[in-house]
Amino acid sequence: MPNTKETFDSISKNYDLINQLISFGLHRKWKSNFINTVNFYGKVIDIATGTGDIAMEIKKKHPDANLTGYDPSPNMLDIAKKKCIKNDVDFVEGFCEKMPFDDSSFNFATITFGIRNTKSVDNSLVEIKRILKDDGILMIMEFSKTNNVLIKNLYHIYLNFIIPFIGSLFGKYDEYKYLATSIEGFYTKDEMNNILESKNFSLIKNIEYNFGLVTVYIVKNHILKVSKISS
Ligand SMILES: C[S@@+](CC[C@H](N)C(=O)[O-])C[C@H]1O[C@@H](n2cnc3c(N)ncnc32)[C@H](O)[C@@H]1O
Repeated sequence: MPNTKETFDSISKNYDLINQLISFGLHRKWKSNFINTVNFYGKVIDIATGTGDIAMEIKKKHPDANLTGYDPSPNMLDIAKKKCIKNDVDFVEGFCEKMPFDDSSFNFATITFGIRNTKSVDNSLVEIKRILKDDGILMIMEFSKTNNVLIKNLYHIYLNFIIPFIGSLFGKYDEYKYLATSIEGFYTKDEMNNILESKNFSLIKNIEYNFGLVTVYIVKNHILKVSKISS
């Protein structure tokens, strides 16, 4: 895995435009559906916020919520801050494997197309669990592998040839080839559900887009309550 902070720093300038091109604009619809799935309130953190779209849209829709956008790439965050003209989202730099927030601080954590880029999904989930309140909600949107052979083969061509070609038009072939590798190396929906369950998150809902190539996981945090053992 390349240094993801450097990778995203280097593609930040054209990130929004290339995203629009390679998803045929669909990422906007996925993100808007994602935000409309729940009523956000209290403290909300958008992890791997990138150029800040999710954090800003949640804030726009739920002005009373307190929003933090969190990401390790200073260049992505600079774009987020410039887009955030109302200056009503707090942007903080850092990796999600270790976050500078107190235990049980947030009512909601969102992470769109970010968990795949972390060095360890397991460690990231443990850390997200730590900063979420008991019964807090974690919402993940991520690419997922499919077992449908036809879609898998067509998607392989799109990921490995078309997307890097589009990246190369912006001088970013390697960075967009990494995108293909990371997507094909990620989990299926069922594998990801099992990982979430193993970290004591309970599944509320899955939503699938594009023949299951993109999956939303909405899960609830349960802090294990250990009853006192009387001696
Ligand atoms: C594909 S972008 C997604 C940005 C945004 N959430 C969106 O949906 O457009 C992935 C983001 O993950 C961030 N990232 C990479 N490694 C990370 C880590 N270990 N912890 C948190 N964020 C990370 C990158 O800096 C980048 O901004």
